[in-house]
Amino acid sequence: MKIQLMNVQRQHETYAAEYEEAALKVLRSGGYIGGSEVSSFEEEFAAYAGAKYGISCGNGTDALVLALRALGIGKGDEVITVSWTFFATAESIAATGATPVFIDVCPDTYCMDPKLAEAAITEKTKAIMPVHFYGQSCDMDALRSICKKHNLYLVADCAQSAGTKYKGERKNTLGDVSCFSFFPTKNLGCDGDGGMVLTDDENIARACRSLKVHGSGKDGLWTLKREYEMKNIPFPQNMPDGESKYYNYLIGYNSRLDAVQAAILRKKLTHMDDFIAGRRKNAALYNEALKSTAYETPYESLDCEHSYYIYALKHPNAQKIMERLNEDGVSCGTYYPVPLHLQGAFAQLGYKAGDLPVTEELSKTTFAIPVFPELYDEERDYIISTLKKVLE
Ligand SMILES: Cc1ncc(COP(=O)(O)O)c(C=O)c1O
Repeated sequence: MKIQLMNVQRQHETYAAEYEEAALKVLRSGGYIGGSEVSSFEEEFAAYAGAKYGISCGNGTDALVLALRALGIGKGDEVITVSWTFFATAESIAATGATPVFIDVCPDTYCMDPKLAEAAITEKTKAIMPVHFYGQSCDMDALRSICKKHNLYLVADCAQSAGTKYKGERKNTLGDVSCFSFFPTKNLGCDGDGGMVLTDDENIARACRSLKVHGSGKDGLWTLKREYEMKNIPFPQNMPDGESKYYNYLIGYNSRLDAVQAAILRKKLTHMDDFIAGRRKNAALYNEALKSTAYETPYESLDCEHSYYIYALKHPNAQKIMERLNEDGVSCGTYYPVPLHLQGAFAQLGYKAGDLPVTEELSKTTFAIPVFPELYDEERDYIISTLKKVLE
C-alpha cells in the first residue's frame, strides 16, 4: 500500500462521528444556504485567525478575487506577487483585469523577497500579494512597511497558512485583506470547496459580502457608490435604487460556503491546535532524522511558527529521488513544477526562463513528502528510511 502525500480520508475518520453528526443536522434542517452555521463559522474563524470580519465564499480563488475587487483593483492596475505559488494566486489578479507582476522568492523561506517587491513598484501598482508558502510566514513587517510607504494594499494569500504564526501570533500573518482556502487537503479543509476573506475593515467586508452574491440590494448599491468614489467619477443620476436582492448593481459572483461545509469546518476548527501540532511534530522528526544527510530540510525563520501545509526537501536530484520514492510506495510531488511566470496562461506577459532564478531552481530541486497529522509513526519511519536508502 502506498503512503499518500495527503490523506483526507484519514482526517475524516479521526473525528468522523462528530463531523457526520454536524453535517446530518444541516441535511435534516433544510437550511442549506447561509444561516447560523455559516455566520458562526465566519465569526469563529475570524476570531481564530485574529481578524474582525470573516466573509466566507466558495473557495480560496474566489476569496482572492473578491478581495481584489473590494479594493477596487482592475484593468490598468498592477499587483506584485510571486511566481513560486499555486496558479490561483495570479489567476485571481488576472481575473479582475489587473496585471500580475512576478518577482522572485527568498532562497531560504521560499516566500516573497520584500526588497524585490519594493523594486517592482510602478505608478500602476495597487497592491502587493505575498503568499505564506507551504505554511511559512512571509516577512510581514517588511512588506507592511513597504505598503505603507508607497500607499499600497497588502493582500495576503493565506491559502496554505491557516494556523501559521508570525512574531508569536496568527493575526500578524494577515494583510489589509487575507484570503484562505478550505480545500480538503489544506490545514483546515472541508469536505468539498470553501474559502474565506478576512479583514479588519468594515467597508472592505461589506463590499466582499455584496460581490459574493451578485452585487445586489442595499450592499450592492453601496459598493457601487464606493467604487465611483474610489475612482473619483461622478455617480450616474439615472441609477435605480431598489433595495431588494433582485436589483443588481455590480457584476459580481455566486460564491458561497455551503451550510454543510460550515458545520463541518466549525467542528474541525476546534481541533486545529492538534492538527498543527501534528504537522509540526512530523516536520521536527523529519528535520532531526535528515539533518546530516544530503537533503536540505525546510528553513523555519525565528519569526515564524510554520504550519507545514507542505514539508518539502531540497536536493539537486529531486526528480530521480521522487521516482525512487514513488516506486518504493511513498507518494511525493513538486509544489509546483511550472512557475507561474512560465505558464502558458501568462505567456503574453513576456517572461522567459532565467528571469526568476530562485523560483526556477526550486521548481526543479524541491519535493514534498507526507506530513499530514494523521501519518502513522511506522509510516514516517518508513519514509525516513526510504529517503536515506535512495541516497545510497
Ligand atoms: C497559494 C494558494 N492560493 C490560492 C489557492 C486557491 O484555493 P482554492 O483551491 O480553494 O480555490 C490555493 C489552493 O491550492 C493555494 O495553494
